[in-house]
Amino acid sequence: MNLLRQKRILLGISGGIAAYKSAELIRRLQDQGADVRIIMTSSAMEFVKPLTYQALSSYPIHTDLLDPNAEAAMGHIELARWADVFVIAPATANTIAQIVHGEANDLLSTVILASRAPLVVVPAMNQAMWANAATQANMQTLRERHINILGPDSGSQACGDVGEGRMLDVADIVAQLGDVFKNDQLAGKHVVITAGPTREAIDPVRYISNHSSGKMGYALAQAALEAGAAVTLISGPTQLTTPERATTVQVISALDMHKAASDACQDADIFIACAAVADYRPIDIAEQKIKKNDDEMSISLTKNPDILADISHSHDSLFTVGFAAETHDLIKHATGKLERKKLNMIIANNVGADSSTGFNTDDNAVEVLYQDKTSIKQQSFAQCSKTILAKQLITFIAEKHPS
Ligand code: PMT
Repeated sequence: MNLLRQKRILLGISGGIAAYKSAELIRRLQDQGADVRIIMTSSAMEFVKPLTYQALSSYPIHTDLLDPNAEAAMGHIELARWADVFVIAPATANTIAQIVHGEANDLLSTVILASRAPLVVVPAMNQAMWANAATQANMQTLRERHINILGPDSGSQACGDVGEGRMLDVADIVAQLGDVFKNDQLAGKHVVITAGPTREAIDPVRYISNHSSGKMGYALAQAALEAGAAVTLISGPTQLTTPERATTVQVISALDMHKAASDACQDADIFIACAAVADYRPIDIAEQKIKKNDDEMSISLTKNPDILADISHSHDSLFTVGFAAETHDLIKHATGKLERKKLNMIIANNVGADSSTGFNTDDNAVEVLYQDKTSIKQQSFAQCSKTILAKQLITFIAEKHPS
């Protein structure tokens, strides 16, 4: 499984001779289908000009915390939120010390502090600097904080020394980076996920639908795969590439989705209903394109089956997770849906028109309500990319699912 495909990788380049290898790293990450954005420190710019990386990545290089133009385009907090993973390569002894001490005195160290994405440190320095007790103590602190560390390698160094401290080969960095996204929290489980909108035909060329892009559901499918689950993704019409190794069933209408989800849930352990299913469909679908005659027209609608409620009521041992898309009274409405649909968990998101989260956005922020023995508990998940949020939600679901 290519775990880097469609991942948003923020690459922090600090000032060491190994910075030249970062150019190759950008290309190899792009070969894996990753989207790469770059932050350089001022000392990195002494080794390689930002233009080199800009040409390779096709995006402006972020260098300055106090540049109003850069902040207006994609500010440091936005950059921090954008990333699915934050790789520091090369990470010099100084940058590692900054991370350990929580310094925020340049753009790179500030974004590291502000980011919730998994951090990957790829050390590169002279062998004596690497062996120094201060550096070793700093590395120990990073390990204790569960920060991912790749390398270093040993061998001959640019300064003429021989020993440990060389940046890991680019091919090895790429090969090991995928592991950041992998775990076995759902190994052996079958997870069924609905995603995207449904389309309810009016005539051969028109339909009723909604703004769901499928991004949240597809991110959940990818995160469940990375957690070792067998995944059936039941998708309404989207523009997205289906996750490798998921069994994907493409559907159009709510009735199609109902049938596909009911079939897939026969042997499932967890059902996550992320799709924005149309609540109603036209009673009659015109066989031919409806002509524009009158000033007004009306379409009679009938209720669609509630896929989630049907499935949760007919499968006692299935762990059911719904979504609640609300424009107001988020918790009140989500609690009502949790109880009425007899769910184990509901993930509530705000989908107001002025919201930067919810329908067809890259980010989301949710409140999760779940049944805990006799009471309903609540857990907040702050705004971040749907990829990161999906990982957090899958971890949470795996914790709450009785294994
Ligand atoms: O696809 P994106 O652009 O990434 O956007 C993500 C999202 C906003 C669509 C997603 O996060 C979300 O909130 N999905 C649920 C949308 C919705 O229809 O919510 P609801 O509150 O109307 O429905 C409650 C639950 O019942 C949902 O789990 C829904 O899948 C399910 N349902 C609803 C109606 C129906 N007939 N059958 C269902 O199964």
